[in-house]
Amino acid sequence: MTQNINPELGRAALRALIKEGSPLGPLKVMAQAVGRFFQIPLPMFHPYIVFGPQANRKVLVSDREKLFWRNGDPVTTLLRRGVLVVDGDEHDHYRKLMEPSLHPSVLAGYSQMIISHTDRVSAQWRDGQKVDMLIESRKIALLIIMDALFGVDAWNELQHLWKPILKAIEYISPGLWIFWRQIPRPGYRKWLKQFDEYLFEIITDRRRQTMDDLSSDPSSVVHCRSDLLQHLVDAGLTDDVIRDQMLTMLIAGHDTSTALLAWTFALLGQHAAIHERLVDEIDTLEKSPLLDQVIKESMRLYPPIHIGNRVGKENMDFNGNVIPAGSRIFYSIYLTHRDPRIWEQADEFCPERFAQGRTTPPFAYIPFGGGPRACIGAAFGQAEARLVLKRLLQNYRFELLNSKIHAHMGATLEPRPGVFMRVTKRNPKAS
Ligand code: HEM
Repeated sequence: MTQNINPELGRAALRALIKEGSPLGPLKVMAQAVGRFFQIPLPMFHPYIVFGPQANRKVLVSDREKLFWRNGDPVTTLLRRGVLVVDGDEHDHYRKLMEPSLHPSVLAGYSQMIISHTDRVSAQWRDGQKVDMLIESRKIALLIIMDALFGVDAWNELQHLWKPILKAIEYISPGLWIFWRQIPRPGYRKWLKQFDEYLFEIITDRRRQTMDDLSSDPSSVVHCRSDLLQHLVDAGLTDDVIRDQMLTMLIAGHDTSTALLAWTFALLGQHAAIHERLVDEIDTLEKSPLLDQVIKESMRLYPPIHIGNRVGKENMDFNGNVIPAGSRIFYSIYLTHRDPRIWEQADEFCPERFAQGRTTPPFAYIPFGGGPRACIGAAFGQAEARLVLKRLLQNYRFELLNSKIHAHMGATLEPRPGVFMRVTKRNPKAS
C-alpha cells in the first residue's frame, strides 16, 4: 500500500518531471507538499523517502543496524562483494584494509600526481577550444584514481576504457529495471566483461611484481608499494574479491569527483562575480578560503551522491510514520541540502554560507553521508577537487557556452547535456 498519493499531487509531480527533465523535480514537489517523510507514488516502485537532520541521523547512525545497505539492485549485482554493498563484519574487514591508503595523513603524497594528470589532460586543449568539462573532468578523475589506488598510469588506456566504464555506470544508474527487476540487460555483458578482464590483468601483474620483490629479497616482507591494491593483495583476498573492491573504488572514486568538478565549473560559469573573485584569490593566496567554500556549496546544491539506498530489516518509525520491514528506504541528501527550513535561499549558489565561523546543524550537510559508513574517500575527494580546480583556474580562463544545464540522475547527479566551456590560456608559459 502506498501513502500520500492524491491525484492533484500526482499531476503536480508529473509537471515538475517534465519541467526539470529529472525526477528531482517531483521529489521537490512531494517534499514541499508532504514534508520530510513520503512514499513515491509509482506503480511497482514505491520506496519511502526520508530527509532532514533527524531522519539522516537515524538512517546513518542510531538505527543503522535496522537497515541493509543494498538488496538485489544492479549496484549489488555489479559490485558483488564490494565494500559499498556488503554489511557486517565482511564490510568492516574490507574497509579496514583500504582506509590506510586514503587516510588524510597520506594525501599530501598524492598532490604532485594529481597536478600532473590535470596538466596532461589540459595540455590537449587548443587555445580557445570548446570543451565539455564533464568529459574532461572524467578523464582527469579516472587517471588520478587509477594511479592513486592501483599504481596504474591509464593514459594510454583511456580510449579503450572509456566505453566499458560508461557502460558500467549506466548499468547501475536508475532505469527501467526499477520497475521490472527481471529485465534482461544483454547490452552490457560484453562491456562489463571487458572491464573485468582489464582489472584481472592489473591484479595478475601486481601479484607477479609482489612475487618478484620477495624473490629478489626473500628476507624482506616489507616492499615499497603501499597503495590500496597492495593492501588487498597482501591481505590474501581472492582475485574475485579484489576485483569487487577495485571496481567499487574505481566507480565510487571517480564518478563522484567527475560530477563535483563538472558542477563546480558549471556554477562558476553561471556566477561571473564569484568566479572572478575566486580566480583573484587563487592568484594571490596560497590557500584560498573561497575555493573551499565554492566546493562545499557545489556539493550542497548538486551532491554527487544525492540519495542513499537502504532496505529495512525490521519496522522503522520516523516520527510516528512506520516503514514496514522489507521496504526500500532512501535518505535524500539532495532534499536535505535544499530544505528551506535549514538553508536561507536554499536554491541559490552562495558559497559564503560556508565562511569560517558559520555552522550548520549536525546531519544537515551530508555530501559524504555520515556515521561509520561515511564516504571512505571524503578527504581524498576534497583534496583532489581543490588541487584540480586551483590548477585549472590558474592556467585557463573558462567561459560557459551552454545556458541550459539540468541535473541528470545517473549513478551520480550529472550536469547534462554537459558543461560546454571555451578554454583560453591565461599564461601560456605556466602550463
Ligand atoms: C566528491 C567526491 C565524493 C562524494 C560526494 C562521495 C559521496 C559518498 C556518499 C554520500 C557515500 C555514502 C553513501 C550512503 O550512505 O549510501 C559514500 C560512500 C563511499 N564512497 Fe564516496 N564520495 C566521493 C568520493 C569518493 C572517493 C574519492 C572514493 C574512493 C577513493 C569513494 C569511495 C566510497 C566508498 C567505498 C563508499 C562506501 C563506504 C562504506 O560503505 O563503508 N568516494 N560516498
